[in-house]
Amino acid sequence: MITVTHLTKQYGPRTAVHDLNFEVKKGEIVGFLGPNGAGKSTTMKILTGFMPASEGKVMIAGHDVFHEPIKVKQSIGFLPENPPVYPEMSVNQYLDFAARLHQVPPKGQAAAIANTLKRVGLWDVRHRLIQNLSKGYRQRVGLAQALVHNPPVLILDEPTVGLDPKQIIEIRELIKSLRGDHTVLLSSHILPEVTATCDRVIVLNRGKIVAEDTIDHLTSRAQGGLIYALTVRNVKAAGVEALMQLGKIHTTGNRLTIELKSEDAREKVIETAVKHDMGVLEFVADKVSLEDIFLKLTTNEGSLA
Ligand SMILES: Nc1ncnc2c1ncn2[C@@H]1O[C@H](COP(=O)(O)OP(=O)(O)O)[C@@H](O)[C@H]1O
Ligand SMILES: [Mg+2]
Repeated sequence: MITVTHLTKQYGPRTAVHDLNFEVKKGEIVGFLGPNGAGKSTTMKILTGFMPASEGKVMIAGHDVFHEPIKVKQSIGFLPENPPVYPEMSVNQYLDFAARLHQVPPKGQAAAIANTLKRVGLWDVRHRLIQNLSKGYRQRVGLAQALVHNPPVLILDEPTVGLDPKQIIEIRELIKSLRGDHTVLLSSHILPEVTATCDRVIVLNRGKIVAEDTIDHLTSRAQGGLIYALTVRNVKAAGVEALMQLGKIHTTGNRLTIELKSEDAREKVIETAVKHDMGVLEFVADKVSLEDIFLKLTTNEGSLA
């Protein structure tokens, strides 16, 4: 549904995104994750035809963004970083404006607006002026304008930024409800956001893709299998050699990490260390969190060593 090949964007001498290649399949919800300045908004503006690329190609729903911009705009709903909502309009008026802008046929307009208002939970406030709405409701108005023409593809740039925890949950639920009918690419600079809503993540750092994976796969990688850390008073060579029979060992000072072949081997680890008089101080599961992985990916070279 979204295919990006060799996408590069320069702002003058500065390269904001460099040689991006990725794909989002029909019905997928994909998270575009990366720290501030990674190039998320730049990529999204190019995908939606709001800004030209320096190099590369983008196909949305079978249309080339650079050669068929009108077709692409009909297939896409975009919630930009700063949604252009007009404070002096009522919710209804604004959606009417958005529907016309997105070329919803006049006959179907009233129904499209009503459906969208109900879908995003704005029906009860449809006569209110946008300026009198809370930030969470204004964000819903932004989502509503992206949805009103029922586009197959949705591009949402940091949809929950600036919202309170309750509003965040509401917007997440709303996004999850789009699954299946719509193909969604949503950006965030925080990990929990994408793990809560997305099937898959593309991690961007300094304008480059540093990882692309399913949440499930990332989570199991984060749990790191059966890795345990053993801290001892004395690291004894014979003891370490005996422990090697139980799994792969990595020693840092008096702390040994052991990748066990089975959970049952935990008992053997302690027995072995005690037998060799190593002085066991601590034995714990050595968990790597998803946060750790994200930090590792988005600092320095951003590679998973
Ligand atoms: N209009 C612009 N002119 C020059 N540099 C820009 C412009 N917009 C963004 N940048 C730079 O491009 C990089 C990527 O920015 P952006 O796409 O906004 O990242 P993100 O959305 O991931 O925070 C940053 O270094 C930013 O300073
Ligand atoms: Mg941004």
